[in-house]
Amino acid sequence: MKLSPWDTIEVKDYSKLFDEFGIQPMFPVFSESYLFRRGIVFGHRDFDKFLEARESGQRVSVLTGIMPSGPMHLGHKMVVDQCVLYQDKGVQTRVLVADVEAMATRGIPEEQARDLAVNEYLLNWVALGLDLKKSDVYAQSNRSVPYYRLAALLSGRVTNAEMTAIYGDLSPAKTVSSLLQSSDILHPQLKEYDGPHNVLVPVGVDQDPHLRLTRGFADKLGLIKPSSTYHRFMSGLDGGKMSSSRPGSYIALNDSTKEALRKVDNALTGGRDTAAEQRKKGGQPERCMVYELLTYHFMPEDKELARIHADCKSGKMLCGECKKILKDRLGAFMDDLRKKREKARPKVKKFTEEMFTC
Ligand code: TRP
Ligand code: SF4
Repeated sequence: MKLSPWDTIEVKDYSKLFDEFGIQPMFPVFSESYLFRRGIVFGHRDFDKFLEARESGQRVSVLTGIMPSGPMHLGHKMVVDQCVLYQDKGVQTRVLVADVEAMATRGIPEEQARDLAVNEYLLNWVALGLDLKKSDVYAQSNRSVPYYRLAALLSGRVTNAEMTAIYGDLSPAKTVSSLLQSSDILHPQLKEYDGPHNVLVPVGVDQDPHLRLTRGFADKLGLIKPSSTYHRFMSGLDGGKMSSSRPGSYIALNDSTKEALRKVDNALTGGRDTAAEQRKKGGQPERCMVYELLTYHFMPEDKELARIHADCKSGKMLCGECKKILKDRLGAFMDDLRKKREKARPKVKKFTEEMFTC
């Protein structure tokens, strides 16, 4: 198995990541969040150290990044929900726009990267609950001299052999992006920022190579190794991988409500060919996108989700009824999100004008 931040990867068996990469299985924590309760956040590195530091009153912070390279979809929402959870717990939260990475590795023009950052990502992040006043939100392209100096210095602390062992073959653009990402994660510990402290990085597991690189740097520089948590990927609505090249495979947050509901109509379910067969054999929620959407986003109530699971398995409930439950919730969510985006637009616009000054 390979973990690569630049290829769309599909993880068939998450438990393999524990033995192969030394990711730790997640332990029970934050029971108020279904992402943690349900094991959607399934693994970590040194998350216990982050919690211990926080409990003993030491400074901690959270940092994650947004790559402005395509539409923001529901697969991106889990990390927002986690950041909002930390923000609400009073943890200093940083969110960066990886516009330099998008320009360098994806060939996205600067103007377009900025437009995506604002209109696809930050507006939705704020609509989903990120408080710009409580968090430090920045663009890689506009950070600071100490941040860039650190990225450049890191280049002297790693060999080609080490880079290849972590990433495989690397283009110069990918090398620069990796060093910049390490600086993203480590620069909050510089004296110009908050000094040495535990920084937690909640990400999809495809980003783990960057964390391995960064942990090595932290050791060499005498900084505290970052902690990280990893969440599962959502599958594509049509059963394949979720991919920005197939709009039918995801629900974009900027989709119209009608479009989103239509995608649910076309989504792959674990239903049987005929109603009679389903009544007899029951459905297969474990391979059903309707069930996955409820689990990841739209049914925080465990009891109600368990009931749907049972009624699906027993054949008591058919897919039409189940889709209706999802569509009611998804429709309300999309309408509400659109209103919140419009409300947030003026302040996000003003904020991002200051964020992209040079
Ligand atoms: N590479 C990340 C992505 O593709 C974006 C990113 C850049 C990031 N710097 C980061 C994520 C620091 C977490 C921490 O999504
Ligand atoms: Fe999926 Fe619901 Fe159909 Fe079961 S009843 S297969 S959970 S849509």
